Amino acid sequence: MADKDERLLEHNYDGIQEYDNPLPGWWTALFWLTIVFAGGYYGYYQILGMGENRYQEYENEIKEADVKYAQFKLPDLSDSEVKAFAGDKATIDKGAAIFKERCAVCHGDKGEGKIGPNLTDNAWIHGGKPGQVFKTIGNGVGSKGMPAWRLTLKTDEIKAASSFVLSLRNTNVAGKAPQGVVEADEAAPVAAPAPAPAPVAVPAPATPAADPAAAPAPAPTPAAAEAGKI
Ligand code: HEC
Repeated sequence: MADKDERLLEHNYDGIQEYDNPLPGWWTALFWLTIVFAGGYYGYYQILGMGENRYQEYENEIKEADVKYAQFKLPDLSDSEVKAFAGDKATIDKGAAIFKERCAVCHGDKGEGKIGPNLTDNAWIHGGKPGQVFKTIGNGVGSKGMPAWRLTLKTDEIKAASSFVLSLRNTNVAGKAPQGVVEADEAAPVAAPAPAPAPVAVPAPATPAADPAAAPAPAPTPAAAEAGKI
């Protein structure tokens, strides 16, 4: 009873008295430890800047992911880069096999269109330039049900499929009505060389026409006549 009175504090509120009960040692120790820890934490991240902050962590994770998922990234190919391989027969044949297996369900066996648009006409929803076709196939059109093939196919396979699709252009297989915007022929890699010989062919008929006029002259004459004209 005596030591109980020693622990009693002086004050007395309407008969209510209070003990002086110290906090347990382990609790106070923990309390001081948190303060020390907070100081260390603040110093490490804020003052010394040794630890990565959340932005740096985010950047690093993105970098890691870029490396990890590089295979699913679609290279950004220009029209001429796509044209460079799109005319190759072996690539087109490889693409035809992929098309039969993966694409025909939606685009028809010959690309004439089913759920997906007709690929044998000259109208394009997402652009018919070689680079655009490659991108549409790679990235897909999620909202319209065209899968993003970069997630399933290797880049080489997407290249092959693009080559095949570009080779279908203007084969005009009867099927789904054209959708999108009709485009000029020069965008097609297969059609591209065609206009090229045309200007060369123009002087050709001109020469025989000039020939009879030049009368009975041997081979060098047309050349000479042309040289004279120029
Ligand atoms: C599940 C069905 C489906 C499959 C499978 C599919 N497509 Fe498509 N594809 C579509 C639809 C639907 C569209 C039209 C998208 C739109 O309307 O924007 C489309 C659009 C396209 C276009 C763009 C046409 C344009 O007019 O711009 C190309 C090119 C194409 N697909 C190629 C392919 C190739 C190559 C494959 C196979 C590797 C394939 N698609 C597989 C449904 C499919």
